[in-house]
Amino acid sequence: MTMRKVAIVTGGVSGIGKAICKELVDRHVFVFIADINKQDGHLLEAELNKDALNARFVELNVTDYKSVEHVITNVYKEFQRLDYLFNNAGMAMYGEIYDMSIDKWQDIVDINLWGVVYGTQVGYQIMKEQGFGHIINTSSAAGLGPSPISAAYSTTKHAVVGLTTSLHYEAEEYGVKVSTLCPTFVDTPIFDKATAINIDKTAMSKQLKKQKMMSPQQLAKIALAGVHKNKPIICPMPMRKTMDIVFTLFPSLHRVLMRMVCKVSRNARLT
Ligand SMILES: NC(=O)c1ccc[n+]([C@@H]2O[C@H](COP(=O)([O-])OP(=O)(O)OC[C@H]3O[C@@H](n4cnc5c(N)ncnc54)[C@H](O)[C@@H]3O)[C@@H](O)[C@H]2O)c1
Repeated sequence: MTMRKVAIVTGGVSGIGKAICKELVDRHVFVFIADINKQDGHLLEAELNKDALNARFVELNVTDYKSVEHVITNVYKEFQRLDYLFNNAGMAMYGEIYDMSIDKWQDIVDINLWGVVYGTQVGYQIMKEQGFGHIINTSSAAGLGPSPISAAYSTTKHAVVGLTTSLHYEAEEYGVKVSTLCPTFVDTPIFDKATAINIDKTAMSKQLKKQKMMSPQQLAKIALAGVHKNKPIICPMPMRKTMDIVFTLFPSLHRVLMRMVCKVSRNARLT
């Protein structure tokens, strides 16, 4: 078994995943950048290997169980260890339920939920056998509370929180750690790439970008500090804590806030 720690980061080519890859390399972890974006994946691989061999790009579509299984088991076969698995690949989707089609539901559930389930299922078996390892599933603050006009996104992210916080306790006895990362607003291309259903994406993005954004680098540092502490939920935003307090102590104020979010988002409707 190699002494160097080994990580797999899905969606590792852009935004949060990319920053996590860099942060892991800074901590001397060997990183597999697993992503559907081959072109940028090879560029990032070259960047991370500039001074020493630190990373490898592997093309992966997380919606394909066989490929997820293949990538994760091959990493384990080669290195005889898997220390970290970040199931991070994801997409955003704006739209009212009224405008959603089943196809759109399937798109987002396939990436944001099945992608995470596949990774967790395969990674957990390996980590349970080796007796150590940490699975980190990226959810969102939208997985911890309502997210009107992004309900499909919120659905997938709530499911990721349910899976991950439950497994956190199941896995403890086997030496495996499991955490969910719940960011709020991080400055990445996800907003511009989002699928917008009957929503003016520019108007929506403009609204969202009024929020104070954290840089992916800041988030990656907080994420790894949370991983180090083995937190079940790593939620870096102070706003989230405030929302929790509001949600618990002042439920009617929370409802007022949510109605406001709904109204503002609905202003971006096209028809
Ligand atoms: N940016 C934010 O404000 C924010 C907030 C909360 C949660 N998140 C979550 O963080 C995660 C990363 O988002 P980001 O903001 O870095 O977005 P991003 O768009 O910058 O990165 C997403 C990455 O996932 C990859 N990807 C997409 N579909 C894939 C697939 N089928 N298989 C493999 N890779 C695929 C993309 O190529 C890209 O590299 C997502 O799960 C997202 O929902 C982001």
